[in-house]
Amino acid sequence: MVAVGVDAFGGPLRPLRLPVIAAGPGEVLVRVAAAAVNPADLGMVAGRYRWADEVRFPLVPGYDVAGTVEATGQPVVAFTSHKSTQRGGYAQFVTLPAELVVPLPDGLTAVDAAPLPLAGMTALQALDVLGEVDTLLVNGPRGAVGSLIVQLATARGTTVVPADSPGPVDAAVDVVGGAVARAAFDRVRDHGRYATVVPEFWIPGGVFAAERGITPRVVSVRYDRIGLMGLVEQLAAGTVTAKVGAVLPLTDAAQAHRIVGRAEAAPRVAGKIVLVP
Ligand SMILES: NC(=O)c1ccc[n+]([C@@H]2O[C@H](COP(=O)([O-])OP(=O)(O)OC[C@H]3O[C@@H](n4cnc5c(N)ncnc54)[C@H](OP(=O)(O)O)[C@@H]3O)[C@@H](O)[C@H]2O)c1
Repeated sequence: MVAVGVDAFGGPLRPLRLPVIAAGPGEVLVRVAAAAVNPADLGMVAGRYRWADEVRFPLVPGYDVAGTVEATGQPVVAFTSHKSTQRGGYAQFVTLPAELVVPLPDGLTAVDAAPLPLAGMTALQALDVLGEVDTLLVNGPRGAVGSLIVQLATARGTTVVPADSPGPVDAAVDVVGGAVARAAFDRVRDHGRYATVVPEFWIPGGVFAAERGITPRVVSVRYDRIGLMGLVEQLAAGTVTAKVGAVLPLTDAAQAHRIVGRAEAAPRVAGKIVLVP
């Protein structure tokens, strides 16, 4: 099969010819129709990512895929759980533990669904960490994780407050990291709640010391099959959307990384980039 990956940290991302891994017991071979590009994929390629085991090369990045189960033709969406599996979505096929693979309802295309797993589960888990709050500030409400937090929080009856509005909030969630995180933290009322999805090792400069009775929490996504199935249902019902900004051929993965990494001269794209093998 054709995949895209790197032979060493730092790249370059290049097309690879790799064997298709036959599905073992409890595994599913997915024919990939769409693979979303996440900021984490850039970290994987750069060597800034933390895997459970020593990384194996060639490294094929990619957390989010949608396609069909090769054996049955069933449309599915899947989270590759790259941290533990090291099986990436930037490929024509990916072989995954069956629990990571979720059926796709009628009416949803692979491109619609591919951006959902990582960003959606992260958004759900950020809201779970914060618990019930009346007012919530999200400092990147147009990003993948941020926009899903806004949609899910609003559906729960929480008032989402713009970052540039005045006054304290019950809770804030940071999706940007670094120095920008501080402004969100500062808006939280005393004894309020604050969470970030951007750990210090990922983008240094965030604020993680407790202050004014607020204990910052760092969200590190974990796979949640029930949560993902719920998100897929909401996507199919049209009650949440995961915005797709561009659809590119898989072989343009390097260009997708330049766009996501906001490289000089790269075009700006609002929404997820989805790669199609
Ligand atoms: N902890 C975890 O398990 C986990 C899981 C998923 C993602 N993440 C991390 O969460 C972050 C967001 O991911 P994503 O997929 O949502 O990325 P994304 O779609 O690229 O969104 C990034 C957001 O940050 C905003 N932003 C970037 N730089 C900014 C700045 N200097 N000032 C203000 N806003 C800025 C962007 O705003 P504009 O587009 O308007 O510029 C956008 O809203 C990434 O760092 C990612 O690695 C962590």
